[in-house]
This record gives sequence, C-alpha cells and structure tokens, in this order.
Amino acid sequence: MAVWDKNLLWSFMFLLAGAVGQTVIYPFTSTCAVRGSTVTLPCTFTPLKSFSDGGREVPLKIVRVRWCQNHEICQGSTPSVFDSNSTNNDPRYQYLGDMKTNCTLQIRDVQQGDSATFRFRMEADHPEGHFTNTTGVTVRVDDSTKIIIISSSDDKKLSRGETVTLLCASVCTFHQLEVTWFKDGHGLSETGPSLHLYSLTAEDSGNYTCALKKNMKTLSEPYSLQEEAGAGGNLPPIPGVVFVVLLAVIALILFIIKSILVTFTATFKNKKTNRKPAELWRTSATPPSTSHRKNRRAGTWARARTPSSTRQ
Ligand SMILES: *[C@@H]1O[C@H](CO)[C@@H](O)[C@H](O)[C@H]1NC(C)=O
Ligand SMILES: *[C@@H]1O[C@H](CO)[C@@H](O)[C@H](O)[C@H]1NC(C)=O
Ligand SMILES: *[C@@H]1O[C@H](CO)[C@@H](O)[C@H](O)[C@H]1NC(C)=O
Ligand SMILES: *[C@@H]1O[C@H](CO)[C@@H](O)[C@H](O)[C@H]1NC(C)=O
Repeated sequence: MAVWDKNLLWSFMFLLAGAVGQTVIYPFTSTCAVRGSTVTLPCTFTPLKSFSDGGREVPLKIVRVRWCQNHEICQGSTPSVFDSNSTNNDPRYQYLGDMKTNCTLQIRDVQQGDSATFRFRMEADHPEGHFTNTTGVTVRVDDSTKIIIISSSDDKKLSRGETVTLLCASVCTFHQLEVTWFKDGHGLSETGPSLHLYSLTAEDSGNYTCALKKNMKTLSEPYSLQEEAGAGGNLPPIPGVVFVVLLAVIALILFIIKSILVTFTATFKNKKTNRKPAELWRTSATPPSTSHRKNRRAGTWARARTPSSTRQ
C-alpha cells in the first residue's frame, strides 16, 4: 500500500471516528457572489472535548483551523485558502472565526477562481480530534454584475401613507451587498440592500436606482415610484383628516364672520338711508319747547330779519 493511500485511509478513519459528537455546520451550503463583492461563509463547529484511549479519557484541544477549496478533506499538504498555522495567508480570505466554535470565513474582492466548494477543517492536538465536514459551501461566482431593484409592492402607483421596501439585489445574492441608493440621480444616505420608505408622501415619488458601492458600473435600471395623493381607496391617514377638519372649521368661521359683516353692513346702510328721518327724529327729539323756542327764535329772527330786510 502506497504511503499516500495509507494516509488517505487513516484520514477517512479519523473522519468517521470523529463524526461522533463533533460537527461543522454551514448554515447554507451554496451561495452566489458577484465578482468584486464580499461574501461571508457562516460556519460553526463543535470540537470533540476528549476521547477514550483504552479507558483513559484524553482531553482534546483544537490547535489548527483551515479552509480549503475543492478538496474533500482538506488534510495534510492540501493547499488551503486559510491556515491558522500559516503566516502568509491571502488577505482576501479573512477568518472571522476562532478556535472554539466559530469558523466563519469571509472572502473579499471575489474572483472568478472562487467558484468552488469551500470546506473547513479543524485539527486537534491528537488526530482523534481532526474533523472535516465534506458537505462544504459551494460558491458560484456570477460574472454578470446585473443589479436589479425588487419592490415589496407589486403596484408602482402607491397611495399616500403606504410603506414600501425596495431591495437592491444582484442576480445571485440578496444579502451582504454594500450598495449606494439614488433618487432621481441624487445619492441617498442608505447603504444597506433594502430601502424602507415609510408613510409615503409626494416627495417620495421618483426614479430610484442602486449600484454596488465599489462598482458604479453596476447601476440598476431605474425603478419608477409614484405616490398618488388620494388615488388609493385606502382611508386617508390621520393628518389628512385633521387637515380636512381644519379646513371645515376655517370655512365655518369665515362664513360666520361674513354673515356678521353682511348684517352689520345692512344695518349701517339702513342707518345711512334713514339719516334724514333720523336727523328729523333727532331734531324732533330735542325738547319740543327748546326746539320750538329755537324755531320760534329763529323764526322770529328770520321773521324779524326778513321783514326788516324786506322792510329795508
Ligand atoms: C455537515 O454540514 C451540513 C450542512 O451544514 C449539516 O447538515 C451536517 O449536519 C454536517 N455534518 C456534521 C457531521 O457536522
Ligand atoms: C500548527 O500550530 C500548532 C500550534 O499553533 C501546532 O501545535 C501544530 O503542530 C501545527 N501544525 C502543523 C501541521 O504545523
Ligand atoms: C462568528 O463570527 C462572525 C465574525 O465575528 C460573526 O459575525 C458571527 O455572528 C459569528 N457567528 C456565531 C454563530 O457566533
Ligand atoms: C422617471 O423616468 C421616466 C422615464 O423613465 C420619466 O418620464 C420621468 O419624468 C422620470 N421622473 C423623474 C421624477 O425624474
């Protein structure tokens, strides 16, 4: 038996033996990444705490963790993309995990060559504790950097007050995208893949686009959103109701003021037209005696004058 075969056999035996009690879990076993983006491969592991060596429990400690591409077991001299024992790992592959339970790997600036199945391997201070889950995570690198906008609402014409979420997605990934949002060509502050528009107003109407933050060439087709005031059969929101009530109150007040003005003007006009009678009345209201006297005196004076003048 060749040395290589022997090693492989041993590896398989360790793999099978170790399968009891130790696990490596990949929350998803396949993903898709756009070239140039960052993809995270979540992973958790539970190492074997100890093993029985002829009735004697030998404690185990993880001393090495690694990730390989396209290799079933990732053992021995297999090249790895990350190796905790190596000092010259490619910085594109960042091990976000630890030596205890977390084996998450992040791949930055995804390249075409990353289209592969990645597997995590833990190595303990005794081969009993070595383990690889052959399932792995398969990464598919999509060269098409097509970015699309998906709306939470089927309708592009939305009513005031409605809430809508726009999702900036690439053909293959719905998560982990770092994007830039634009409304009518102007950059928005949101950087996450979902843009929540709460309680729509006319100001939210416009053409939305998004692009990968690192690659503006990925700009999506515009998504035209129209807020139609009162177009929807939905109940108008509270502010609308308040506004309508305010308008009604103002209208009522104006009506009352107008009525008062009309009445007042009418009275005033009446007074004006009745001025002469009023004056007569006022004249007649003066004590008749005085008036009489006055008249008399005037008359006397007038008479006195007139005759005098006449006389003269
Ligand atoms: C291997 O990974 C798959 C996917 O995460 C998981 O369902 C399975 O339980 C794992 N097996 C072991 C032995 O860890
Ligand atoms: C990896 O490093 C650990 C300690 O950091 C050491 O115990 C182990 O022997 C090394 N393994 C290899 C294959 O170099
Ligand atoms: C593993 O570590 C990464 C990076 O620190 C973290 O984002 C992730 O939540 C961790 N996973 C678990 C299961 O703790
Ligand atoms: C949005 O784009 C459409 C055509 O795609 C155009 O008719 C419309 O005027 C644009 N709206 C704004 C607010 O720029």
